[in-house]
Amino acid sequence: MSTKAQQFIYLDHAATSWPKPQIVTEAVINAMLNDGANPGRGSHAMAVRASRILFDTRKHLAKLFNIKNPNDIAFTSNTTMSLNMAIKGWLKPGDHVISTMIEHNSVRRPLYCLEQSIGIEVTYIESDEQGNVSVEAIENAIKSNTTLIIVNHSSNLLGTILPVAEIGEAAQRHGVKLLVDAAQSAGIIPVDVQAMGIHMLAFPGHKGLLGPQGTGGLYIAPELELEPLLHGGTGSQSETPHQPLVRPDRYEAGTQNTSGLAGLQAGVKFVLNETVEKIQAKEWALAQRLMVGLSEIANVHILGPKIGEPRTGIVAFVVDGVDPSELSFILDQHYNIAVRAGFHCTPLAHTSAGTIETGAVRASVGIFTTQEEVDSLMLAIKEISQQYSQ
Ligand code: ALA
Repeated sequence: MSTKAQQFIYLDHAATSWPKPQIVTEAVINAMLNDGANPGRGSHAMAVRASRILFDTRKHLAKLFNIKNPNDIAFTSNTTMSLNMAIKGWLKPGDHVISTMIEHNSVRRPLYCLEQSIGIEVTYIESDEQGNVSVEAIENAIKSNTTLIIVNHSSNLLGTILPVAEIGEAAQRHGVKLLVDAAQSAGIIPVDVQAMGIHMLAFPGHKGLLGPQGTGGLYIAPELELEPLLHGGTGSQSETPHQPLVRPDRYEAGTQNTSGLAGLQAGVKFVLNETVEKIQAKEWALAQRLMVGLSEIANVHILGPKIGEPRTGIVAFVVDGVDPSELSFILDQHYNIAVRAGFHCTPLAHTSAGTIETGAVRASVGIFTTQEEVDSLMLAIKEISQQYSQ
């Protein structure tokens, strides 16, 4: 087996992107050094500069997602917090929710919590083995008390891309709201909240948008009124005990992560400059290269869409006779390759894919991944699988 002297290869971008563009780290440091006051909490020059960072970050995100009013974006610390804000802020006792069998636990667990605590009802629409979900099945599941459809734009295990615009049209026809989990699509696949009929968009800052961990956001359509998840200081209307109605203050109690958001702004600028379309094409080509190579190894089974079909840069697989956690450990220790093994916080998708007993190894490429890195993973899997089959 190869040794640790090999160059480090990071193929875990679906968990968080790394490395970040240099402009991102520079923006974080610059904000900490020069603009480290509390945004929205004072009128001195440094506080105004900190507020400006938040304003500009919102503006760039609005451009990326085609959001009319940047103030309809609330900053959060990650997609999980955004999803909790949306789900717990919208649903009422007796509401019915439609979701899918390829969702992450960040959707499934808050829904389960509300099923237990206030008595909501949830229908999970089955997917096929590749993670495809039928829009017709979603539409057929709508009932008189259905108030929300929740889908991820792309599965964090299978890489499948869901037809969000068609789901948005179906939701629109029935007056149901659509919440999209863009954890694996923001900055990776084009997202247009107006064209896709999205009422709420939960997105991370630290994955495809290339920002620091601890950043993320929730777009809330102007006609929607959510009960805030957090109550507290906003730097506005301090005389009243009520959480202000004005956005984004309503959904942003407490001091914001100014330096992190400066980094996120730089990441979004980087993505806008590269264009999401080019990023998507590059990651698709790398994923195809990896799939073609892996498919030539006899005892490897790839999850998700077939070669040639649309997918993100996620390629999960199992190798007969090799425990995924052990495989990931060997890749890390002997080949210096970082991937993620196990259940990826999505037991529902593993159930759909037929890997709920074993788990899988997930490799995920990013904007800076090279063909050579992907080839190194293929060669490593070939070597390991041969050793296990002897
Ligand atoms: N949700 C992230 C992943 O899929 C952390 O790895």
